[in-house]
Amino acid sequence: MKNLFIIAAAAALLACGSNPQPANNGPVLFEANAFDTVLKGKPVSLYTLQNANGMAVQITNYGARLVDLWVPAADSTFKDVIWGYESIAGYLSSSDKYSGPVVGRYGNRIGKGKFSIDGKEYQLTTNEKGNQLHGGKGGFSTKVWDAKELTDADGNPAVEMTYVSPDGEQGYPGTLTLKVTYSLTPDNKLVLRYEATTDAPTILNPTNHAYFNLHGTSAQSTNSHILQINADAFTATDKNLIPTGEIVPVEGTPLDFRTPMAIGARLDTLTYEPMIFGGGYDHNYVLNKPEAGALSEAAVVYEPATGIVMTVLTDQPGMQFYSGNYMNGKDVGKRGDIHNRHTAIALETQNFPDAPNHENFPSAVLRPGETYTQTSIYAFSVK
Ligand code: BGC
Repeated sequence: MKNLFIIAAAAALLACGSNPQPANNGPVLFEANAFDTVLKGKPVSLYTLQNANGMAVQITNYGARLVDLWVPAADSTFKDVIWGYESIAGYLSSSDKYSGPVVGRYGNRIGKGKFSIDGKEYQLTTNEKGNQLHGGKGGFSTKVWDAKELTDADGNPAVEMTYVSPDGEQGYPGTLTLKVTYSLTPDNKLVLRYEATTDAPTILNPTNHAYFNLHGTSAQSTNSHILQINADAFTATDKNLIPTGEIVPVEGTPLDFRTPMAIGARLDTLTYEPMIFGGGYDHNYVLNKPEAGALSEAAVVYEPATGIVMTVLTDQPGMQFYSGNYMNGKDVGKRGDIHNRHTAIALETQNFPDAPNHENFPSAVLRPGETYTQTSIYAFSVK
């Protein structure tokens, strides 16, 4: 039994109280065996978490990837707010390789794919303009992870994905063991907990790369989403989006989302150089934190048409906001959704891009005996 349904008829009745969900408004989930296949000699499947409110998420161990995420809208219908495919074949043939997976070892970019630890230089594989993006061509998003269904410490349904990255993979030193646990809470939070250890000094910056559209369809652009980002500054980059090391205030720029603002409001005023470099929003925000490492609110996204609100919380110092600038209409996903420009956004909670090459950025080094941890949460509500 691959499903972790904790929904029971009695619980659902209790939870819904006087506002029961008509069955046809609920999530339309894939069958438990819809993704069953073997890739690289390892079994691939689909894992389902559902809570008593009906919110549901399906995750495949191919890339520890979010496949769908059904959340209630203000009219009590459920919307799938993740862009993706209805089969593993879809993910394999997609022109955009980063729909919903965990990316790493180093999510985001490393200039020239080079870095040093303790005076020793390492050369990574490069896969974008001579730089490394999202851990390289054979990064974590391409791996078949080991999946284990469990109940987390808070009693919530969860699935734990583990990947052991061998020493030297994509040029990274050290055998790294990364566990990512997805849990679904009774109050509609999808919680991602990361934990990693290594047998030699290495660098690490994993993040989830889900593409969200709070309309529940890519037929409508995410430009209408109202976004608030709790950041006073961002990391400036060159034209290839490699950080210069400079931390620039958002004040007076189109990158200022401290006050909620429609994503599309300033998207096409491409006169500000960082917006030209990104072809829109594709920037790492330096999150305001009560203290370093604190779990705090990074962003709030709201879609007026559906009433869906997504709050992003993280203990990470940064968050890349990508406004789907390179989506090109070539990929057709679930329910025939076309991946056109600006039809999804990514909010990638993480360390800063290229941190190993900038002393003023938080360290991304993990050493033997240490444990890397990250908690990031996507919390859903309506208004
Ligand atoms: C990057 C974009 C890239 C996208 C898909 C984002 O994290 O910042 O530049 O196009 O991922 O690969």
